[in-house]
Formats: sequence, C-alpha cells, structure tokens
Amino acid sequence: MNATTSVHVEKLTKRFGAFVAVDAISFDIAAGEIWGFLGPNGSGKSTTIRMLCGVLEPTSGTADILGFNVARNPEAVKLRIGYMSQGSTLWADLTVQEHLRFYAGLYGMSGREREERISSWVQRVGLSERREQLAGTLPGGYRKRLALACTLLHAPQMIFLDEPTAGVDPVSRREFWDIIVGLADEGTTVMVTTHYLDEAEHCNRLAMIYNGTIVASGTPEELKHLPQIGTMVEVLSSDTVGVLDAVEHLPFVRGAGLYGSSLHVALADTSDIERLNAALAEHDLPAEAARPVLPSLEDVFSAVVQPQ
Ligand SMILES: Nc1ncnc2c1ncn2[C@@H]1O[C@H](COP(=O)(O)OP(=O)(O)OP(=O)(O)O)[C@@H](O)[C@H]1O
Ligand SMILES: [Mg+2]
Repeated sequence: MNATTSVHVEKLTKRFGAFVAVDAISFDIAAGEIWGFLGPNGSGKSTTIRMLCGVLEPTSGTADILGFNVARNPEAVKLRIGYMSQGSTLWADLTVQEHLRFYAGLYGMSGREREERISSWVQRVGLSERREQLAGTLPGGYRKRLALACTLLHAPQMIFLDEPTAGVDPVSRREFWDIIVGLADEGTTVMVTTHYLDEAEHCNRLAMIYNGTIVASGTPEELKHLPQIGTMVEVLSSDTVGVLDAVEHLPFVRGAGLYGSSLHVALADTSDIERLNAALAEHDLPAEAARPVLPSLEDVFSAVVQPQ
C-alpha cells in the first residue's frame, strides 16, 4: 500500500452463521478515485462497506484504509472517513442546521469554525434556502443532500456512499453526482454503490459483485470490452417487444433486453449476426438489420451477474 492507494482489501470475508455474505474479495482503490460497487440486492455491497468503515467485524481477511488497518486501528480510520449508510436516517423534527450542528459536535467542532463549516457545506449542497426547514419536510433529494453534508462536515479524505441516490428523481440525482465528481476532483476518494447503471458511468473504476464474489472489475470502458459479453447488437423495430419474444429463446442468443427504444441482443460473435437477421426475416418482423453496438453497463451487468 502506498500514498496513492486509499483502500487495500485482501480476501475480506464475512459469514453470518453458515451463510457467506462476502467471500474472500480483494481490491484496491486509488486516492481521488470514484470507485463504484455494483451488484444485485443481497450480493454483499453493504456488508463490505460496513466492514471497511469499522462497524462490522470481518470473519477473515484484511482491509487497510488510508494507511490504517481497520481491525487494529478503527478509530484512526473513522476520523478520516465519512460514511453515508444505506437509507441513512435523519431526525424528522430537527432542522437542516440542527442536524449539521449535531454532527459538528460529534467531530469536536465548535464556535466560529463550526458555523463556517456548516455555512460552506449548506451552500455547496444547495441547502442555503432551507437551513431552518425540518428534515422531515424536505423533498427526498434534499434529504440525501443533507445526509451527504453531515458525512462531509469533518472534511474526510475518503467517503463511503451506500446507495446515496436511491429513490431520488433524475434531476436531483444528476445534481448529487455533480457534487460527488467535484469532491473527487479535489482529491476525496469515493466508494459508492448504486443500482442506477447510468450513474456508474461517472465512476473511474467499477467492481461487480454477485453472491459475495467480485465477478468483474475495471473502468467502464474495460468492462464493456469483456470477452464474456461477446458481440452486442442493436435491433431497431416498431415492435421491440415482439422482436424480443421472437429472439430471446433462439439457441445462439445469449441474452436480450429492451434498451431505450431499441433492443440489445447479446451474441457469441459477429458470425451470429447473419443468423439473427435470418431469424428476424423468417418471423416477418418489422425490424431493421441488426448492427453491432458498444454494450451498455446494463448489458455488462446482465452478462456477468446471471442467476445460475
Ligand atoms: N446481520 C446479518 N445477519 C444475517 N445475514 C445478513 C446480515 N446482514 C446481511 N445479511 C445477508 O447478507 C447478504 C448480503 O447483504 P448486503 O446487505 O450486504 O447486500 P447488498 O448487496 O447491500 O444488497 P442491497 O442492494 O439490497 O442493499 C444478504 O443475503 C443479507 O440478507
Ligand atoms: Mg445494501
């Protein structure tokens, strides 16, 4: 581990009784990187984050965060990180300002320093106009911004965001990501989970976890070129659902799904494009000829995270 590595994880494992929730995963996160952690429900994302933040003891394996071993030095880690837990709770009957004062107190801030920090974060996350508003009356997107501000108040070097935009509308999600990208540009390391694959495009690197095991990792571009995805083609049609029904069970089709107004079909290789076009013609479907496209992260996710 060197100064440019924020997280070094080796064979981290968590068992709950006989059930293995996280199965000997290893990865590194570089300083200032936005590192996305994707996986279906129950795949082990939150369990991993909780171990990295020192709130859950691993069964085995090690994690070094910002140069400190989490098991040996949890307090040193906690001082330097921010953790926005999944569904992190706010107090409905405390205002925005009262929340921030409470968190500032936990981090030992007081007086002018406290008020300056609060003002600066309130402004940064767009809550200036809502300082006196009760958290319980904030719209969902603003509640997430408040939770983020509470996470950032002590200027952590690294933040862990567990589904920070769940249930937030698209415009607020975009604004939230503008803040995350800005923080990373300033050198904050970010580990983030999300089920929105459009957001994953903002990450420098990603790992996909399934049944507690990392099944793919790399930059978004690298993931789109994984050999196991094969050849992805797009089919344009006025009846995409009809085409989907007709092609998804063809023996040479690995997977198919609606993507926007088109259909994405995964094939083993380019030689199958002819066969697909022949099948479309045979079914007399209103479709243009299939053409190769770069897979989306959704395509990658479906290809590597497949129920056995
Ligand atoms: N304290 C616990 N006791 C027993 N099983 C647990 C415990 N915490 C988590 N699990 C199980 O471990 C698995 C992984 O859970 P985890 O919360 O890490 O998943 P996740 O990837 O964060 O899912 P989601 O996308 O739904 O948030 C699940 O099967 C979950 O039920
Ligand atoms: Mg979770």
